[in-house]
Amino acid sequence: MPTPARLHVAHALHEVFGEKGRVPDIWDRDLGEDAALAQALLGLCLRRWGRLQAWVKPKLKDPARGVPLGTQVALAMGLVQLAWLPGVSDHAAVNEAVELAATRDLGFVPHKGLVNAILRRAAKDRAGLAAELEALPATLDRPPAAERALRAALVPHGAVADLEVLWARLQQPPRPSFRVLAGEPPEGLVPDPQLPDCLRLAEGLPFPRPWLEAGHGMVQDRSSQALLSYRWDRPVTRILDACAAPGGKTTTLARRHPGAQLTALEVHPRRVARLRQTLQQRGIEAQVVQADAAEWLERSEGAFDLILLDAPCSGSGTIQKHPEWPWLVHDDLPRLTGLQRRLLTAAAERLAPGGLIIYAVCSWLPEEGIAHRDWLAEARPDLRPTAVWPAALGAPAEVEGELTACFRPHPLRWEGEGFQAFALTR
Ligand SMILES: C[S@@+](CC[C@H](N)C(=O)[O-])C[C@H]1O[C@@H](n2cnc3c(N)ncnc32)[C@H](O)[C@@H]1O
Repeated sequence: MPTPARLHVAHALHEVFGEKGRVPDIWDRDLGEDAALAQALLGLCLRRWGRLQAWVKPKLKDPARGVPLGTQVALAMGLVQLAWLPGVSDHAAVNEAVELAATRDLGFVPHKGLVNAILRRAAKDRAGLAAELEALPATLDRPPAAERALRAALVPHGAVADLEVLWARLQQPPRPSFRVLAGEPPEGLVPDPQLPDCLRLAEGLPFPRPWLEAGHGMVQDRSSQALLSYRWDRPVTRILDACAAPGGKTTTLARRHPGAQLTALEVHPRRVARLRQTLQQRGIEAQVVQADAAEWLERSEGAFDLILLDAPCSGSGTIQKHPEWPWLVHDDLPRLTGLQRRLLTAAAERLAPGGLIIYAVCSWLPEEGIAHRDWLAEARPDLRPTAVWPAALGAPAEVEGELTACFRPHPLRWEGEGFQAFALTR
């Protein structure tokens, strides 16, 4: 049997390439010390999938026909370990891949010999294998959806010529960011020079799992932290977090506005359960409601001084964290943009005079972000852009003094997820 780490990776690859599903957030739970190997292996398989398949193809008896997914997965995992994971021995890389090929639900048993032959040959010159794979065009790893997302990220900054630079950057595993919930941070977490509450892991130090598991800190992407660094000094007594699970931003909102009444909405029952659990563990008081936010807003009463609409979106800005994103099917953009508009319309109705609404998506696609702001400007002239983010984090076009009404960081100058956010008041 292959090790649990390799089985987890194989399952995740089948989910992505077989089911066109995302890698679940907790896919590596319970792997303990092997989690690092599993993460590196999965990340490289996903980030190099196109090149790996292209390298294998001419070595097949019938290249046009290809091989089943089980064989592709076993070969990709073996090749990645031989080419880029020098800590894994030839024996482990080859034998575990062969065993994987021989696993009924994850491999393709008749191709056990083929996997063995290809990997044994490749193991004879691991550096040569890496060089051959890297010499293949990077575009093989970049399906059209990724190409489109990258262009959307660069166009507003007049930087389309830097597409390859951005792609190379997104191919590196992201450096995580944290926030303290209680007490002092552990050694090795250093303050971010641009965001005072944001902590970064110093180079080469272990991931602070025990600290997180003890509930003393949380992971929160740098862009989310910047989003929540809005400057707003008007009184805030009622807050709505309209799309709240898993609750990272709800936590930050509660801590930024202690004493305010906080309502957190989430439509999916399983995510509601996770949201409740997160808030309970962190001692955050909020009214959690399972509902479609638009429907709930339409049928309930009262106005909010602060509404955060961290809307469901394509997630095109999360390619670095989710290297499976380029390989998934992204045919639900019309549904998402319709939902985003419906949520925005309903939220705008319930904004108190003088209140603040923040709309955000972790996407670079203009139709999910800035286009909604332009549409709202016509549909709801009573809503005015309001500058709340430090200008250095946002788009130069909207700079008003030191602050900006639009947070759309430059993808090459900003380390963090791709985001579009705008702030409005009425
Ligand atoms: C971008 S995520 C929110 C992340 C969250 N704000 C955080 O920082 O932890 C969007 C969330 O909206 C939820 N959602 C999708 N459609 C919704 C709807 N119609 N009403 C309320 N929530 C919705 C999704 O299930 C998802 O949990």
